[in-house]
Amino acid sequence: MKYVIVAGARPNFMKVAPILEAFRSGRSEHSLVLVHTGQHYDAAMSGDFFRDLGLPQPDIELGVGSGSHAEQTARVMLAFERFCGEHKPQWVIVVGDVNSTVACALTAKKLGIAVAHVEAGLRSWDMSMPEEINRLCTDAISDLLFTTEKSANLNLAKEGIPKERIYFVGNTMIDTLLRHIDAGRALALPPQFQPGAYSVLTLHRPANVDSTELLQGLLDALEPVTSRMPVAFPVHPRTVRRLEEVRVPANLICLEPMSYIRFLGLVANSRMVLTDSGGIQEETTVLGIPCVTLRNSTERPVTCEMGTNILAGTDPDHIRQVLCSVLSKPKHAARVPPKWDGKAGQRIAEVLLTQGSAKARSAAPAIQHSFSMDRVSAG
Ligand code: UD1
Repeated sequence: MKYVIVAGARPNFMKVAPILEAFRSGRSEHSLVLVHTGQHYDAAMSGDFFRDLGLPQPDIELGVGSGSHAEQTARVMLAFERFCGEHKPQWVIVVGDVNSTVACALTAKKLGIAVAHVEAGLRSWDMSMPEEINRLCTDAISDLLFTTEKSANLNLAKEGIPKERIYFVGNTMIDTLLRHIDAGRALALPPQFQPGAYSVLTLHRPANVDSTELLQGLLDALEPVTSRMPVAFPVHPRTVRRLEEVRVPANLICLEPMSYIRFLGLVANSRMVLTDSGGIQEETTVLGIPCVTLRNSTERPVTCEMGTNILAGTDPDHIRQVLCSVLSKPKHAARVPPKWDGKAGQRIAEVLLTQGSAKARSAAPAIQHSFSMDRVSAG
């Protein structure tokens, strides 16, 4: 069997690493090819992550780069279709919810290749998030769906996905965290920050950073924190340009995007994290660091139910209240969600390697071998 795993953007790299490792440790009869779509391409957004995670160089780089959603998705689809035509995989494994995820899932499925989605079933119920559209479309066409938390199984059941396709395996992002956390803690912090006496901010969602007014409101709302302690702010490329148009609070210290291990160390030693990221809600839960999420919804409810996450929304007055409340209390003990134990990659590899052949055949009996990529006829 030939399996392909796709990584495109920063949060994908830590999700594919444990699966690659599990596949490549001693199972030589099956090959797993790593495709990098090039959705993220800077050293800071991509190359440094490969180095930190000990990832092998991608077998294939599609080099699609940035663009509008349609441009980026279309470029991935065109390049990935050519790749599939040449390499003829039986399985395509996609992770997360970025444009590369849905683009490769859709392309593979239409070529009759079986699709596995890692981190399936998460729902924010907010269709203004591009990621929500990507999740819904990917899950609807996947042959195997690997979930990280129970809410995802319930969501998929409600959407009519047969339960024999769904496997609750845990969280590959947490596999990677557990593997690298000691290295992260061992690194020196930037000189402005003392352990436990600073917070960390990340902001990159279009809904938060694409409007100057909204971004200004969010930064001003951080005053309960910025008036008490320095806040480390590794700035995503999407956010950089907008920052030139706003007043940045004095104690907010803007930094270049950080490599994976350095960022883990920064979070693990902080007093609190403020974020609009999805993955960071999960990482702070496992690290026991209070997380205030600057969004109105989360697709990862287990991080609020069991973990350290509090949804603060985007209304500045409400955010101020939440921040004051978090600062006034000692850290509360968080529980680690079930199966976030460092073994998700192994579970995924086991399912794919034991069930892969049968499911690939049933996934696409008619067109699996017609890779001629004939033009789609109208009607
Ligand atoms: C994408 C994902 C988002 C994920 C985020 C993590 C989608 C829809 N969104 O958002 O889910 O949380 O990645 O970062 O897939 N840029 C660079 N260098 C790079 C990559 C991008 O400078 O290596 C700049 C480009 O100007 C680009 C902008 O960042 O236009 C945004 O990149 P893009 O891939 O479009 O989306 P993200 O906001 O990063």
